[in-house]
Amino acid sequence: MSALVLARCEGVRPETGDVKVITLRVEGAHAHFLDTVLPGGHVAVRYPDGTGQLQQRLYSVTRVEEPNLFEIAVRRASYNGVSDRLHSDVREGVIIPLAITDAPRARLLLAETGRMLGVAPGKSILEILDDYGVPLRSGCRSGICGGCRIRIVGGECRVEADSSLNNAERANGYALACCVFPISGDVVIAVGAALRA
Ligand code: FES
Repeated sequence: MSALVLARCEGVRPETGDVKVITLRVEGAHAHFLDTVLPGGHVAVRYPDGTGQLQQRLYSVTRVEEPNLFEIAVRRASYNGVSDRLHSDVREGVIIPLAITDAPRARLLLAETGRMLGVAPGKSILEILDDYGVPLRSGCRSGICGGCRIRIVGGECRVEADSSLNNAERANGYALACCVFPISGDVVIAVGAALRA
């Protein structure tokens, strides 16, 4: 379960060609939430992707001006996801829901080694493997090149659309690590030799 707080956009400024910095103000949020808003930390944005499907994605907090006034950085990904929608939609006055996640954290279990990795909410499996230094071939990071293929052996995940697997592969548990987001429980994946087992 997770609750929401509403953040009002107080400004948008381009940082580089692909990155916009969005200033958000949260009113009436519990101190528990505000304590989590720290430079270098993350907030979970609830927003539709390009197909209209509501998603939850983590964005970096780049600056905190006041306890309830902070900036997030949004990089355009150009595959019609949440970041692209935020790039095109958000201007001063737009309200953006932020999730306060109190769900039990998911864990990621590597089938070959039995290694267990902690999961930050909203991160893709590819991002989690990166965080822990687990090597996995990758390229586009947006479900196009097919380079980050893994197999999901068990666990609950949210899967974003990709354009390089067919239905038979998906039915057999194959997935792209950049498009899969653990939700809860122990998510077991095969990334190497165990991929074809
Ligand atoms: S890195 Fe290209 S599909 Fe995941």
